[in-house]
Amino acid sequence: MNNPLFELLDRLEATRSLTTEEYAVLIAGRSPELAAAAAKKADRVRRAIYGNTVFIRGLIEIGNVCKNDCLYCGIRRSNKNCSRYRLSTDEILACCREGYPLGFRTFVMQGGEGGTIAVDEVCRTVEAIKREFPDCAVTLSLGEYPTEAYRAMRNAGADRYLLRHETADKAHYEMLHPKEMSWENRMRCLTDLKALGFQVGCGFMVGSPYQTTELLAKDLKFVETFRPDMCGIGPFIPHKDTPFADRPAGTVDETIFLLSLLRLVKPDLLLPATTALGSISPNGREQGILAGANVVMPNLSPQKAKENYTLYNNKLTTGAEAAQNLADLKARMAAIGYEIVSARGDIQRINE
Ligand code: 5AD
Repeated sequence: MNNPLFELLDRLEATRSLTTEEYAVLIAGRSPELAAAAAKKADRVRRAIYGNTVFIRGLIEIGNVCKNDCLYCGIRRSNKNCSRYRLSTDEILACCREGYPLGFRTFVMQGGEGGTIAVDEVCRTVEAIKREFPDCAVTLSLGEYPTEAYRAMRNAGADRYLLRHETADKAHYEMLHPKEMSWENRMRCLTDLKALGFQVGCGFMVGSPYQTTELLAKDLKFVETFRPDMCGIGPFIPHKDTPFADRPAGTVDETIFLLSLLRLVKPDLLLPATTALGSISPNGREQGILAGANVVMPNLSPQKAKENYTLYNNKLTTGAEAAQNLADLKARMAAIGYEIVSARGDIQRINE
C-alpha cells in the first residue's frame, strides 16, 4: 500500500481535500485498479449518507431557443439546422401531471438561454407548478440572468438552480465560448444563486476540447471550495453542426473516475449519472451509479421537444431515459443493488 496514487486516494477520503497538483496526479494516474479503488470508496461514502437510494428528477426541456453561441452546443444560436420550439406553461404543467403519478417529486425546467421564456413567465410557471404540486421541488436550468431575475425566480418558489460552470479556468472558458460570454459572469451567477438560498448545481464536461489534466484538477478544486449542492458532469459529445464537430468525445472511464473523486471531495453531493453518460455507453448510467452517482434525470419532455433538444449527436431519446419507462430504469438499478425512490431528494448536508 505504499503506491503514492493509492495513498493520495486514502488522503482524499480522509480529508476531502487535495492540492490542485495532487488532483492532477490522481487524474493522470488513472488505471483500472485505481478507478476500482476510488469507486469502492465512493460507494461506501455515499451509502453512509444516502444508503442505496437513487433520486429521480423529471427533466422538462422547455425550449431550445438560445441567445448564446457556445462552440460545443447543438442548440447554439448560429445553428440554422436546429428547429426551434418552446413549450407553453400548459404544456409544461402537462409534463408534471404525467410525471407526478409516476413518482416524480422534482421537476427540472431546462432550456436555452434568454429567449425561450421571459423571466415573468418563468415565475408564473414555477408558481403554477408549486400550487398544483406543493410537495414537489422545482429546479431551474435556464442559464445566466441578472441578480434580480434570480431573486424573482427564488421568490416565485424555485428551490434549486443548475448552472454548470463548464470549466474552472478562465482561459479555457474563453476557448469554448464566444467573446461576448464571460467566465466572470458565470461565476457571479453561481455566487448569486447560492446567496439567494437556492440549492445550487455546477458542473463540467469531461473531454471537452482543449481540456487537460490540470484543468480537470482545477474543476475538482473548484467543487471543493465552492461547495455546490449538486454537480453534473458528463462526457463531451460532438455535435455535427458546431465548430467542434470533429473533436473526439470524452470517455466513460474518465467520467466515472471523476464521479468517484467528486463523491470523495464532497460526500453529500447530489451527483447525477447524466444522459450524456448514458448516451455514449449502453450501461453508462449504471456504471455512474456504481462509481458514486446518486441521481438520474429521466426525460419527461414531449417527443417533439426531445427530438429537437439536441445538445450533441446520438442523444438518447427513447428507452430507459424516458420518464415513461421508469419501470425499466428501476429494474436496471435494482439489478445492480440500488433503489429508485420517489422523494424530493434534497441534499442531506453533513456537518463539517
Ligand atoms: N456534449 C456534452 N454536453 C454538452 N452540453 C452542451 N453541449 C454538449 C455536448 N456537445 C452540456 C453543457 C451544458 C449542459 C446543459 O449540457 O455542459 O451546460
